[in-house]
Amino acid sequence: MTITLRPAPALLSSTETQEPLLAMIGNTPLIPLRKIAPDLRPGVEVYGKAEWYNPGGSVKDRAALWMIRDGERRGLLRPGMRIADATSGNTGIAYATVGAVLGYKVTLALPENASPERKRILNALGAELILTDAQQGMDLAIRTIRDLVASNPDAYFYPDQYNNQANVEAHYQGTGPEIWEQTDGRITHFVAGLGTSGTFMGAGRRLRELNPAIKVIGMQPDGPYHAIEGVKHMATTGMVPGIYDPDLADEIVEIRSETAFETARCLARQEGLMVGISAAANVAAALEVARRLEQGVVVTILCDSAAKYLSDRFWDEPDSACVDGDGI
Ligand SMILES: Cc1ncc(COP(=O)(O)O)c(C=O)c1O
Repeated sequence: MTITLRPAPALLSSTETQEPLLAMIGNTPLIPLRKIAPDLRPGVEVYGKAEWYNPGGSVKDRAALWMIRDGERRGLLRPGMRIADATSGNTGIAYATVGAVLGYKVTLALPENASPERKRILNALGAELILTDAQQGMDLAIRTIRDLVASNPDAYFYPDQYNNQANVEAHYQGTGPEIWEQTDGRITHFVAGLGTSGTFMGAGRRLRELNPAIKVIGMQPDGPYHAIEGVKHMATTGMVPGIYDPDLADEIVEIRSETAFETARCLARQEGLMVGISAAANVAAALEVARRLEQGVVVTILCDSAAKYLSDRFWDEPDSACVDGDGI
């Protein structure tokens, strides 16, 4: 089967080509996962897209760059303004990285219990942090930023990643076509975790357009209380992202936090891949799908590396499940 991609609008503006760090966003490697699931049928392949190769260390560099460029194009982000958003995680690091390159200051609201690694990275990148009461979670951080922006709208650009189509577009124009080309159009199943759902919606929609037979599968935690940072349980969250369309999914696979931890340990010990918890949960979901197949090419997203999760205790557990490859 040969389907040629219609030309996508260039991801990179002329400024990106002048900014080598921004030119490094996207075009991440696709890594075959072989040892972690020796029980798969011979015609089944599983791949992970290594998003920690982005300069800010995660998949969120793509969305941050597109939202910032889109803000500039629309005249919502002008020189001298600050980028302001509520994020405790990778999106904040991505704003701070792109902001540092392009000369925009960044203000982020985040719950005070965000991990020390994250706060240190954000501080190092020069972001201003507003720490909010941990008991009130992300909801208070979001309200805090909305109030700040409303108090001085000319001073701030609020990308609002949950409701910004440029977040989806980053993956429609970048991640989706990259996966298509890297698998020579052979992909049969795409599995992505649901956070803002930008990755799932953008790459999933593009792949479905390229081949309507491709199954698009969402990964979410198995309930509202979980340890899979960066993803949501859509049925119970108080804040369903505006960009999320549940109709795109052929299926939603739910992953327990313990299964994600176990998969992270096995990826490290068997594949030499040190990935974050949501990446490991994506792999667990991809393997669940792959085990049902006689033949297929399953691709998932390795959202970030283990670097920001090294103080988590789950790494210390022994793992009989992955020694001989017959577990998980
Ligand atoms: C670690 C991690 N995994 C997964 C996701 C989900 O990606 P998306 O927002 O595109 O759904 C995020 C988003 O912030 C994240 O930080």
